Amino acid sequence: MKPEFTLQQDVSLQSLNSFGINAQAHRFLCIENLSQLQALWQQTQADAELAALPRLVLGGGSNVVLSDRLPHLVLHMAIMGCELLDETEDCFIVRAGAGENWHEFVLWTLDQGFGGLENLSLIPGTVGASPIQNIGAYGLEMQDCFHSLTAFDFSTGELKTFYKQDCAFDYRDSIFKSGEQNRFVIVDVGFALPKQWLPRLNYGDVAKYLQEHDIDEPTPIDVSNAIIAIRRRKLPDPAVVGNAGSFFKNPIVSAELRNKILQQHPNCVSYPQTNGEFKLAAGWLIEQCGWKGLRRKTVGVYEKQALVLVNLGGATGAEVRALAQDIQVDVCRKFGVQLEVEPVFV
Ligand code: FAD
Ligand code: EPU
Repeated sequence: MKPEFTLQQDVSLQSLNSFGINAQAHRFLCIENLSQLQALWQQTQADAELAALPRLVLGGGSNVVLSDRLPHLVLHMAIMGCELLDETEDCFIVRAGAGENWHEFVLWTLDQGFGGLENLSLIPGTVGASPIQNIGAYGLEMQDCFHSLTAFDFSTGELKTFYKQDCAFDYRDSIFKSGEQNRFVIVDVGFALPKQWLPRLNYGDVAKYLQEHDIDEPTPIDVSNAIIAIRRRKLPDPAVVGNAGSFFKNPIVSAELRNKILQQHPNCVSYPQTNGEFKLAAGWLIEQCGWKGLRRKTVGVYEKQALVLVNLGGATGAEVRALAQDIQVDVCRKFGVQLEVEPVFV
């Protein structure tokens, strides 16, 4: 029988990761439908060499730091489609294929008249990756609108549906990032979008933008436009400057440590958490250590946002990691805070 897929060999991933690292994938397959995944799994059962290859599922490549040579079989997700699946008294249930571009999907929901995801406008990457680190921005996390997802389980060859309680969503985390990395390939994601929409304007920048544009009663599209404008001001466009967004998570520390830092640095930026701990702004910590705008040969720290590491041209994964490590050491020495990296190192 004719196989439903052909593996490519030695494929450059430079245009498939937002850092622009020129990584080479040993084997590569673009996944456009579920039957390709099923055929691959079948083949894996019969082919020891194929089974031995480490796998990397790649969406838009906007949250990975790649090594130069990847011995992996890279599965590039290109399962497409957006649809209104169902309607309840309170919600519209929509679903999109894993390979859909996240921002295009958000715009599609807004175009259909469904609010809910607008605060997550312009986040790079794919729909399929959105649950991996429970993407978040401007007071909203993906989990707030998450309904369910379908994943192909590579350990059994079966499809599995995950609901919110199965995913262990947390700040920039989920079971797919922390626990079960590489076991599940997410094929589609469903969202429940509220019929009674209320804007989320708790971020000062968003409210300020709307005020400046004389918008008193914003629509979801108004909020999306505000977020797009703010993000364009703050973050580098990966098409121009290679980067992976925030390179570290904002650390959550005890009230004791936060107060100690505050005594020496009264302008320290921190946000109270519901359990009495505090989230600190990692960008502020890094800036205080003098890293903002610093440039090495091929890598640097973005001059407008110290939390973003950038490719100045020809950066390797190793150079990015080395810079990240030096920053971690400095922040720990100065503040006693251990920064945790946000992107996935491969
Ligand atoms: P990739 O980088 O391709 O993959 C990331 C991880 O997910 C990898 O471990 C990969 O194996 C896994 N994965 C991807 N697709 C699948 C799948 N279908 N099934 C199983 N595993 C999969 N993130 C935020 O949360 N908030 C932000 O505001 C934000 N802003 C950003 C701004 C910029 C300029 C950039 C470059 C990044 C930003 N990010 C942000 C990070 C990034 O956009 C998100 O993490 C995004 O969800 C990554 O999607 P991707 O398709 O590019 O994933
Ligand atoms: N700050 C500095 N110096 C800097 C950068 C920031 O002092 O160089 C201070 C700012 O003045 C501000 C605070 O840090 O008071 C927070 O900065 P910002 O509003 O830019 O947000 P962030 O905490 O750096 C987080 C997310 C972003 C998300 C934005 C908006 C994390 C790790 N990052 O950034 O997510 O878009 O808030 O909600 O939580 C991502 O995850 O990749 C990402 C871009």
